Amino acid sequence: MGVYVPNKILTNNDLEKIVDTSDAWIRARTGIVERRVVEGDTATSDLAVLAAKAALEDGGVHIDEVDLILVTTSTPDMIFPSTACLVQKKLNSRGAAAFDMQAACTGFIYGMTVASQFIETGMYKTVLLIGADAFTKHINWKDRGTSVIFGDGAGAFVLREADKGYGLLSSYLAADGSGADLLKIPAGGSYHPGSEESVREGLHFVYMNGSEVFKFAVRIFPEAVQRALDKAGLTVDDIDYLVPHQANIRIINSGIERLGINKDKVVINLDRYGNTSTASIPLALYDLYKTGSLKRGDVLVFVGFGAGLTWGANVIRWY
Ligand code: UT7
Repeated sequence: MGVYVPNKILTNNDLEKIVDTSDAWIRARTGIVERRVVEGDTATSDLAVLAAKAALEDGGVHIDEVDLILVTTSTPDMIFPSTACLVQKKLNSRGAAAFDMQAACTGFIYGMTVASQFIETGMYKTVLLIGADAFTKHINWKDRGTSVIFGDGAGAFVLREADKGYGLLSSYLAADGSGADLLKIPAGGSYHPGSEESVREGLHFVYMNGSEVFKFAVRIFPEAVQRALDKAGLTVDDIDYLVPHQANIRIINSGIERLGINKDKVVINLDRYGNTSTASIPLALYDLYKTGSLKRGDVLVFVGFGAGLTWGANVIRWY
């Protein structure tokens, strides 16, 4: 696996200077201290490529061995072509299939599930799964409900068949489109194409009803973990590490309290990166991975939630 975050750090104190907020409020209400932000014309594909290169190097896999490049993102470089095709071009890969998937902050959970299907069916041997988002490109910095939580980053896995009983054991995926208006970028698609009016009204910025999304996240977090564990025939006690979507420390604390999981088993790095959407789960996992803490046989649970509304969980036995 591999990850990439931009070099530029935006601290809570920096935000205090551009929007009506405070370091104390952001820390207390979200747990975030700083986040990484892209600069200039850096796009999502640039983050994705650097994470992908790190993952390929880590696995000792050459790009020509990759059968499918699957990018999960809700901040693609452009509407089309897919960011996956732009990544393919930058990686000098030819012939591999390439497409994007969009499940917002649940993207990595959906992507892991879809990528593994191609391997399980025998259609592909090697899948490059990348979760990359550059949310700060779509933030209205004067909107304190969104500007304080999002950051940019990317994470990637090179996926191949594992020994029986290892790898992805189960997935639980869910969605409720009736919550579509709670978190969105309204303009730029076929409903509200970019126009003078869309820019004037700020419809190309991220809009979020934070408190409603918060309530939804708190409700589905323990349920998603439990359902994925049930499908794998495991219990909460079997979890070695829980890797949750890094949206808000209060959501994570509520979820683990209701599940009865000890905080030592929960990977948290939102203080340094904020909410990087689909990249947050691989970025958090990488913190464990790079310290050599993961052992073959460890049971990991990923849990995510976000726009759509979408949510889900993966249970993985580390290989
Ligand atoms: O990743 C995908 C899914 N996204 C999420 O999971 C995000 C879920 N939502 C959240 O994390 C939280 O709703 C936020 C962090 C976005 C907001 O926190 P909150 O505790 O829900 O705040 P709120 O919107 O209920 O506002 C509470 C108070 C209000 O003041 P009054 O009316 O009580 O005087 C807000 O005006 O906090 C105020 N407030 C702020 N104050 C300083 C809201 N945002 C800020 C801010 N700085 N950035």
